[in-house]
Amino acid sequence: MAFLSDTLARVKPSPTIAVTNKARELAAEGRDIIGLGAGEPDFDTPQNIKDAAKRAIDAGKTKYTAVDGIPELKAAICNKFLRENGLTYTPAQITVGTGGKQTLYNAFMATLNPGDEVIIPAPYWVSYPDMVLLAGGTPVPVVAGIETQFKLTPAQLEAAITPKTKWFIFNSPSNPTGAGYTREELKGLTDVLMRHPHVWVMSDDMYEHLVFDDFKFCTPAEIEPGLYDRTLTCNGVSKSYAMTGWRIGYAAGPVALIRAMGTIQSQSTSNPSSVSQYAALEALTGPQDFLAENRAVFQRRRDLVVSMLNQAKGITCPVPEGAFYVYPDISACIGKATAGGKIITNDEVFADALLEETGVAVVFGAAFGLSPNFRVSYATSDAVLAEACSRIQKFCAGLV
Ligand SMILES: Cc1ncc(COP(=O)(O)O)c(C=O)c1O
Repeated sequence: MAFLSDTLARVKPSPTIAVTNKARELAAEGRDIIGLGAGEPDFDTPQNIKDAAKRAIDAGKTKYTAVDGIPELKAAICNKFLRENGLTYTPAQITVGTGGKQTLYNAFMATLNPGDEVIIPAPYWVSYPDMVLLAGGTPVPVVAGIETQFKLTPAQLEAAITPKTKWFIFNSPSNPTGAGYTREELKGLTDVLMRHPHVWVMSDDMYEHLVFDDFKFCTPAEIEPGLYDRTLTCNGVSKSYAMTGWRIGYAAGPVALIRAMGTIQSQSTSNPSSVSQYAALEALTGPQDFLAENRAVFQRRRDLVVSMLNQAKGITCPVPEGAFYVYPDISACIGKATAGGKIITNDEVFADALLEETGVAVVFGAAFGLSPNFRVSYATSDAVLAEACSRIQKFCAGLV
């Protein structure tokens, strides 16, 4: 009898974590490494949020709470959805989990049966397909390439839907491309979904607040009220409020689904950290100036990185609408040899050689389901980004 489960054999470890580990190892050997792999803001959590957490500890808010969130936080989340998205939810329609990741995972665990398909636009956040596999479902990736600015078209969505489709995952702005759908683009997709009443929509709005220029964020249940009863709108404080380590995510949807997700959570982790819930409460109800300041910094960095990468020979870098990632295309580098003598046969070799020869760590595109590309996370200082991009320029100039 095998000790490890068949379930484990279905999934692979996160490639983004693998890149981060390799970069850490090289740095420990004394190499000068710049990590552009991590998906988290470099800012510290705002002081008012940290203070709220300290107050919660001192007030003894250190016990178990209701499994899927304290009432005050659920009320604040209802207000957030009304204020920012024009969506009306009651507290019974809200669930709070240990990071956005847990709420998505709960939803899959609560709904997927063997054979159920989940449509995942590619390139995708690395965890979607593996979470679907862990829950026993079948991921159906649909590639949306650079020719449509990494956005799925209505025709592609229509063609991917089968009688077995249970969920369509929508993530805008996207990890790993930063692509954000306009209202018109999203309406094109929701019109398709209205013709297929058996398909549920999981909208992962994690990067809602990180949008640039005059781009306006939108989410499916807001654009098409007809989808409200079969949409799970997911969000969290991790990226917007620089709170990745606090582990608070939340979602809103039909009561029966929210209850089922709570049942899964009650037999796995129980409540998310009580202290973190009070911190998230402050994030959602306290001053919101941080969001605009954050946005301005990220927009400046995006412009720097896009401009410098487009000056690198063989790289084409589209301008994303949001998040803190760019996803440049490196088709023109494939088949070339690096200064160190490696032949670039694919984007994994490119990223490996880039790390070995210049010390810059990026994540290769195959990990996200679209090649040949790589992902840069520009959640680091302007000076570090400028140095990293000039090393990438030099690396590309040396390709023959
Ligand atoms: C698209 C997307 N959704 C969800 C998450 C999970 O966020 P959390 O850290 O709150 O679990 C991430 C984190 O990288 C993400 O990029």
